[in-house]
Amino acid sequence: MKFTQSQEAVTQGSDYVAGGINSGYRTGFKPHPLVFTSAHGCTLVDVDGNHLTDYVLGMGPMILGHSPQEVIDAAKKQLDVSLLVAGQTPTEYKAAKLLTEMVPSAERVRFASSGSEAVQVAFRLARAATGRWKMIKFEGHYHGWFDNVLVSVAPDMSLAGDALHPNALAATQGQEMSENIVVLPWNNADVIEEQLKNGDIAGIIMEPIMFNSGGVLPLPGYLERVRELATKYGTVLIFDEVITGFRVSDGGAQKVLGVTPDLTILGKALANGFAVAAIVGKKDLMDLIASGKVMHGGTYNTQSVSMVATLATLQLLKSQSPYKSIDVAGGRLMKELSLEFASAGIEHEIVGYPAVFNVRFDLKGPTEYRSAMKANRERYANFAFALLNKGIRILPRGTWFLSSAHTSSDIDKTMSAVREVLQAGI
Ligand SMILES: Cc1ncc(COP(=O)(O)O)c(C=O)c1O
Repeated sequence: MKFTQSQEAVTQGSDYVAGGINSGYRTGFKPHPLVFTSAHGCTLVDVDGNHLTDYVLGMGPMILGHSPQEVIDAAKKQLDVSLLVAGQTPTEYKAAKLLTEMVPSAERVRFASSGSEAVQVAFRLARAATGRWKMIKFEGHYHGWFDNVLVSVAPDMSLAGDALHPNALAATQGQEMSENIVVLPWNNADVIEEQLKNGDIAGIIMEPIMFNSGGVLPLPGYLERVRELATKYGTVLIFDEVITGFRVSDGGAQKVLGVTPDLTILGKALANGFAVAAIVGKKDLMDLIASGKVMHGGTYNTQSVSMVATLATLQLLKSQSPYKSIDVAGGRLMKELSLEFASAGIEHEIVGYPAVFNVRFDLKGPTEYRSAMKANRERYANFAFALLNKGIRILPRGTWFLSSAHTSSDIDKTMSAVREVLQAGI
């Protein structure tokens, strides 16, 4: 496949758009960032005319596929009704009510316009509720691109320091660092307790399943113990379910793993491509927002078209019908990929759920960031690039996102491309 028109478009676009891309995370794809002309179902069409089967799905949001009829119909209808009213619409109450029925920790809801913003509300709430300032985050976990959380997400190992007491490392020039962020290794409850004993930790934020730095599940009993510790030491437990929410289940990872945090961040699959995120949580904490003691704002929060899209998406997810087809397609893909890697003699591990799983090469059983980074990431990135050349688009970092638009013939097509790539050797 050729991607020359994309390359040309990005180069020309760079005369106007800084770097030719509008999010720093759209770089790093081989051969170069692509330029798309349309997206329907699970198929992307690029400016070179390539049709690509998509497992990136907008970095996760498109759980119903690109342009699902029910969501698009609702959005089109709303375009003639209202766009932005700087007030409330009945739709946002319906969507919030659904969230409280679906997500275990959701007693109250506030909608935001991106996951990164919603995380900031959680930090404010944790600090206001406890009167403490320090927040614990974990190496390799991603919670958005703002200064106080873009810390030790993909740290340089030569600077990262002691494994049990990592250095908190900035990720970009111009970033304000504060002593109020404490970075710890994930999946180790003892190091958390050691910190909590100081009595100055306002909150703990984590991805309940680490998908941003290789797929790693919580060890048995880990989340339960963290829950107990947070309660014992009066610290707010925050699950960042921007990826896992509505992918691991209709109630997020917390529903499946059986541990309920105090606050949860939702985004991505919540609105199938519209710019909607939410912070949800226990009533007593969320009351701090209700009373105005903790400020949360945003011009575009609950924009009318986004809200009808959210409601339509949640209604579909609650009906369970998207999960039935994702379980079949994704389950089959996980099984067949594993068989093909095994017969090609590639040591590998596939971790996760049919709607979101991670594949790594030449490593099994990592429990946190540093061990997960020992996977053969270069070999995997070569595999991803070779698949792209066969018309299958996956993330070079190992995560696969499935949608209810992926059919058995899409899986057939994907698997025959995988076989060709593995036969040629990676
Ligand atoms: C776990 C997690 N939290 C937060 C975010 C930030 O969300 P947004 O990109 O909507 O700001 C992301 C984005 O990828 C994420 O994966």
